[in-house]
Amino acid sequence: MGASIEVKKVKKSFGKKTVLNNISLNIEKGQIYGFIGPSGAGKTTLVKMIVGMDSPDAGEIHVLDKTMPNLEILQEIGYMAQSDALYLELTGRENLKFFASLFQLSKAEQKARIAYAASLVNLTGDLNQRVSAYSGGMKRRLSLAIALIQNPMILILDEPTVGIDPELRLSIWGELLRLKHEDGKTIIVTTHVMDEAEKCDVVAMIREGSILASGSPKELKDLYHAENLDEVFLNAGRGME
Ligand SMILES: Nc1ncnc2c1ncn2[C@@H]1O[C@H](COP(=O)(O)OP(=O)(O)OP(=O)(O)O)[C@@H](O)[C@H]1O
Ligand SMILES: [Mg+2]
Repeated sequence: MGASIEVKKVKKSFGKKTVLNNISLNIEKGQIYGFIGPSGAGKTTLVKMIVGMDSPDAGEIHVLDKTMPNLEILQEIGYMAQSDALYLELTGRENLKFFASLFQLSKAEQKARIAYAASLVNLTGDLNQRVSAYSGGMKRRLSLAIALIQNPMILILDEPTVGIDPELRLSIWGELLRLKHEDGKTIIVTTHVMDEAEKCDVVAMIREGSILASGSPKELKDLYHAENLDEVFLNAGRGME
């Protein structure tokens, strides 16, 4: 099999504003691929098109050899949006049940997946509460649990750890690495946290709708003569001025 995800010469504008300008990249099965870049760079716009929630103006996106958007492979894509899309009047458990019911899962599988996803994000004890009473971080964690619910081969997580405390953040990253190593899952994350970007196999730095550079964290540090990815980020920005 070829790349898990292929993005070919993708362009996107909103009105007169070009938001993505000729983006091409390949993501291999079993990779953790990070998008970093300043606010407004186009990260969310790009991941939404990879998920199939929006279409490019030009270029193509293939996920598991299917041209996106494509409803057939939603079973294989778990998506966590940047802004939580939850039913506030329902409990955490009811939210998880609802999203689980959208997929081809037996009752027993549903139950097992709900238990797994809730425990992964440390929400097991809060599942009977209404989501309207959740804190910001709890809502974020529930969104992550929902992205994992159908056990998809591909996870696309838009700033998954915003509002999540450091201890849980570490344990979530431990689990993402396990999912990659043991299950061969392909994971895309966007982040503003450079120690998370360090954990990615490949990082693409997006600025003003273009990929400035991509490579392993080490390659990027070498390229920008930087000690860490924070410096890469800042040095790359200076290069644009
Ligand atoms: N539906 C839309 N209509 C008009 N403009 C949009 C729309 N969605 C995004 N944009 C614009 O596209 C640009 C890129 O936005 P995007 O959300 O992709 O950035 P981002 O890199 O995810 O930023 P952040 O780090 O803040 O999440 C911004 O200038 C934004 O205002
Ligand atoms: Mg965004």
